[in-house]
Order: sequence, then structure tokens, then C-alpha cells
Amino acid sequence: MTHAASLLERDAKVVAGIEKLRFFPIAVVAGEGSWLIEDGGRRLLDLSATWTACGLGHGHPKITEAITRAAQRPAGAGGLSAVHPDSVGFAEELLALTPGDGERRVYFGHAGTDANDVVLRACRHATGRRRIVAFKLGYHGGMGVAMHVSGVHIAAGAQPDAGLYLATYPNPFRPHADGDDPVAATAQASLAEIEAELARGDVACVMAEPILSDGGLIVPPKGFLKALGELCRKYETPLAVDEVKMGLGRPGLLHCFQLDDMVPDIVTFGKVIGAGLPLSAAVGPKEILDGPAASALLTTAGNPICTAVGRQVLRTLVEEDLPARAHAAGERFMAGLRELMPASDVIGDVRGHGLAIGLELVTDRASMTPDHKLTQKVVYRAFELGAVVHYVGGNVLEITPPLVITDREVDQAVDILGRAIADAAAGRVDDEKVAPFAGW
Ligand SMILES: Cc1ncc(COP(=O)(O)O)c(C=O)c1O
Repeated sequence: MTHAASLLERDAKVVAGIEKLRFFPIAVVAGEGSWLIEDGGRRLLDLSATWTACGLGHGHPKITEAITRAAQRPAGAGGLSAVHPDSVGFAEELLALTPGDGERRVYFGHAGTDANDVVLRACRHATGRRRIVAFKLGYHGGMGVAMHVSGVHIAAGAQPDAGLYLATYPNPFRPHADGDDPVAATAQASLAEIEAELARGDVACVMAEPILSDGGLIVPPKGFLKALGELCRKYETPLAVDEVKMGLGRPGLLHCFQLDDMVPDIVTFGKVIGAGLPLSAAVGPKEILDGPAASALLTTAGNPICTAVGRQVLRTLVEEDLPARAHAAGERFMAGLRELMPASDVIGDVRGHGLAIGLELVTDRASMTPDHKLTQKVVYRAFELGAVVHYVGGNVLEITPPLVITDREVDQAVDILGRAIADAAAGRVDDEKVAPFAGW
């Protein structure tokens, strides 16, 4: 048995299944830039970046230096009952980089889940209202309130939060309203749905992803998020934009909501902000986040190592102009993927902004029927050919490589994905191989 196979076998015996989402038998021992390295030395081009958490690539020297420096003489292990320069500095710097009005505060957490959870609870407390409006197939967290407002989990059988309203996210590729301009009509239909809920006067918070990622990498129609912000303002309801997966450089701008030239009341951050370490944050009005003391405690939140890394991530994004890099690399990536379309009837759509790219797989472009089985095989085949890519929404490849990916690596990625799609579509991937990897 190979070392990787043995590691996977040991994992199956000791690690809880409830925290796994596997697409192929991957066991990696190291990472370097845009690459993951298996035991034995095989290098895999990382087109997921651990669902965007490793957005600065693996082993970025500035991050390694920040971790090492902070770990040598750590000022305790959290911001709960003491302050230290990196927690305060991180909050100041994040505020400086995040547009917003009035006096604001920063909450630190460990994961996108707790940042969203705390925001939802704080909005309830501040407004005295209870209901949440979120979106079908949205994803805001894997436990607590954040999970119970996540459309993806609810579609999979989780109990919805009491009074939750899940609106339809407007999908330009599959509009849900008719008219001369179905995309505009779809955005209007979603806004009308939400307005009907807001008009009841009992909504504590509207939470939205600026690109619906786990629901299928859906880029909303231009102007939708801005109109949503205006609607929330009209009904004096806070809008929280969840930038956990799509924010901080990935869309080709520092913040994904900037694609729509708007400023949310609350913004949540996660994943890349800790460069792989557990760090999340929420930025929002003082009136909401300065709630009662001790109402959102995590002992090691705001710890010196994670916040030192968070500061370095913010600095690196600016110093290396990674949003611009993501924009250029993403344009090249999407152009390469679109060049595959004439020869491949199963690529329904290629969409995205910067290095947030979705490739939708269908049975054929005439019917545009989503092809889940094919998608499972494509990601499996891509793994065999040397790339790590996952899917979302059942049939959409989620292509979110590290923001430091080079042009040469982009071209290699397009080549691997093209071959994986061709092999899977031609029936060259066995059903038995993919059967143990249900993905989602
Ligand atoms: C948009 C969004 N919000 C929140 C989360 C939850 O983040 P975490 O898994 O770090 O708790 C995710 C995770 O995929 C996400 O995609």
C-alpha cells in the first residue's frame, strides 16, 4: 500500500466523517506557491486554495516570517481579557481598508462561520427583531445560526432558523423571471421578494454573498447588490455582505461588493484573511458590534499569531497588488476556458470575476441540463492529471487558485481542465472510481 493510501485508511478510522467533504483520494504532505505536493513528490496545481483559504499560496515567505516572529514571544493567546499590538493593529488596518460610514468596530473570530453567526445574533440584539433574510443555496457557515440560515444546508435537510426567509438569488445564466430582459426581470423579482419580507418590519438582518459561491458560483446581475443595499436602507434593516470566500483581492478588487459600487452596513471576512490559519472578522457599526460584553466569547479569538498573520495578509494584498494580479490572471484563465467551448458541448458557461471562476457542466448546450455525474468525474480526472479542483452547486467547477498563480500555471491549469473534461465526457472515467466520493 502506498503511504497516501495508508494515510487515507488511517484517516477513515479516526477522523470524524461529519467534517469531511471529499472529491478524490488526496493526501498531501506539503505545499509550495500554487502547488500541493503528495507523498512521493507528485505536484498538483491547486485550483481551490483550500476553498480560498490559501489565497496567498502555500508557504508565502512574508506569511512564514509573520507566523514565526509572532510565535517566538507571543503576548498570551487571545484578545478576550487583554489587548496586544497585533489585535488592535489588525482591527485598525482592516477598518482602514474597508469602506463604511460612522463609527465602526471589528469582531475577530476563528472561521467564517462564527463571524456570520455573531453578526446575525448582534443584529437581533441591536434591532430587537428576530427574522433573517438570506438566499436559497447560500452558504454562511457550518454550525449555529450561520448554518441554519444557509440555503445549501437547508436544501440538504438542516432545520431552517425560525422565521427565516430564503430569497431566490438572481442567476443570469438561469433567469427565473420572463420579460424582454429576463436577467433584469430576475433581479427585480428577487428584490420584490425581499421587499415583501422587509415591509413586515421584523427583519433583523439581510445576509448576502456578493457572488453565490457554494450555490454554483453565481455572479448576480450588475446592480443587484447595490439595489439590495438601497432596499435595506429604505427599511432600516442592516445588510451584511459575506465576503468570506470571495473577498480580499480574489474578484480583481479588494472587496467583492465593490464590483457593484456599493457599501454594505456589515462585512464579514474569513478564509484568506488568515492565510490558512484560523482567523475571521466582521466589520460593522458600533451600535451593532458593541453589544453586551461577553456575548460572543472565544478564548483564543484575536490571538497574537493569527492577528499578526492577518495584518501581514492585508499588507501583502496591498504591497503585491494582488487584486490587480487576480484580475489579469482571471481574464487569462477565463479566455483559455472559453477557447475550449467550441470543441466541448458539455461546457455550458464560463463566468466569474478575477480568480473567482465558475465553469458549468451540462449534458449539452442545447438543453443546458446540469450534469452532476459528469462533474464528479471531471474533478476526479483533473486530480489524476495533476490539478485540485472542486465543484459547487452540483455541476459547477469552482476555480479559485491562489492569487499568486503565474500565467504559465494558468495555461497549465486550462490544459489539465480541458483534458479532464474531454476524458470524462468521452466516458474514460469509471463510475466505480468516483462512487466513494459523493462530494456534494
Ligand atoms: C460565503 C461563505 N461564508 C462563510 C463560510 C464559512 O466559513 P468557515 O468554513 O471558515 O467557517 C464559507 C465557507 O465555505 C463561505 O463560503
